[in-house]
Amino acid sequence: MASIDNFEFAHQHRAEVAWMSQNTNTLPMHPAVLEAIRKSFESREFNNYPFKRGIFGLPEAILDDLKLEDFDLVLTNGGIEGEYAATRALLRPGDEVVSTDPAFLPIHAEIEMCGAKVKAVDIYRKPYVLTAEWANEAVTPATKAMVLIDPDNPLGSACTRSQVKGLAEVARDHDLVLVDDITYRDFNPDHVLATDFYPEKTLLSYSFSKAPGLAGMRIGAILGPTDLMKDVKKYDTNPLGVNVLAQHAALAALQTKKEWLPGIRKTCEANQRTIKGAVDKVDGATLPVYPSKANMFVIDVSATGVNPEALEERLLHDHLVHGRAGSYLSKLNGSKFFRVSYTVPERDAKRFAAAFPETLAKLRK
Ligand SMILES: Cc1ncc(COP(=O)(O)O)c(C=O)c1O
Repeated sequence: MASIDNFEFAHQHRAEVAWMSQNTNTLPMHPAVLEAIRKSFESREFNNYPFKRGIFGLPEAILDDLKLEDFDLVLTNGGIEGEYAATRALLRPGDEVVSTDPAFLPIHAEIEMCGAKVKAVDIYRKPYVLTAEWANEAVTPATKAMVLIDPDNPLGSACTRSQVKGLAEVARDHDLVLVDDITYRDFNPDHVLATDFYPEKTLLSYSFSKAPGLAGMRIGAILGPTDLMKDVKKYDTNPLGVNVLAQHAALAALQTKKEWLPGIRKTCEANQRTIKGAVDKVDGATLPVYPSKANMFVIDVSATGVNPEALEERLLHDHLVHGRAGSYLSKLNGSKFFRVSYTVPERDAKRFAAAFPETLAKLRK
């Protein structure tokens, strides 16, 4: 059964499934976020189109969250829509973009929709992040942009300050736009924005789907310096604005972030440990990046001989635990790993930990 059918099954059994397949967040939410949605709903704010720039206070709250001034932004239906507008604005047929493998491959699909080519640097090797040296080697005269996913999906690796600086320097040396995808930033207390080093040509892809737990609301943003954003805005396909309930939820999430983020990080630490305990029990299974600085990591199962797609299917159908086979995230290394996300209640991480060794033992036979 292909992965797409697994999602159909998982959605059919949503209430019972441990949802560890999409780096989403099923932990309890701050009541202020739910209250903001309820208030907007009850006042039937959804009868009107929202104010295009965003509900009052939301664009400012995003800039404040990033400690940025003088940056422009557009609210989008999730970060992925902003990345679509950015790629359309930046790329023409024959252009090249430096990115990585593994990566969140829908971004690569967006690059290819422009007729441009992805130069995917293999980062399934130490130090498991895109280094300045590798990025520099991948640049050609056709390169127009670089995509940095930091922290990385699916590896959970994160760049240090000097690594971000090095990549920003490569981008500046070759006059590239640096698309800094910060979807998982909240999970890394040490995260560094590329705008610290290259504000003039960095676009930030921002999401409310992961730590704030609003994936189904579909809200995010693309941010950048005004002149670059002028081009990106030409490809904004959403002139009537972003879902108003989602905007209120997003604003409430930012206003209460200090109250909910520490708890989420703590749960992530505990769940990582629980899952590691199970991985350590399995001969041939390893965690290339541990601890992770995101809300997911990968388990390398290549030495077990087990196909990650079979593992995904059996964990879901036999245990109602849904992780993701590597093929969704990597053309080069997808057959080697399985991705697990753990912004889930601790009981779900324990269900994974119980099911993983048993399922691998069965598949190995
Ligand atoms: C690296 C990365 N960028 C962007 C996205 C898209 O997120 P959103 O839900 O904000 O569209 C994802 C989703 O998993 C992701 O992993």
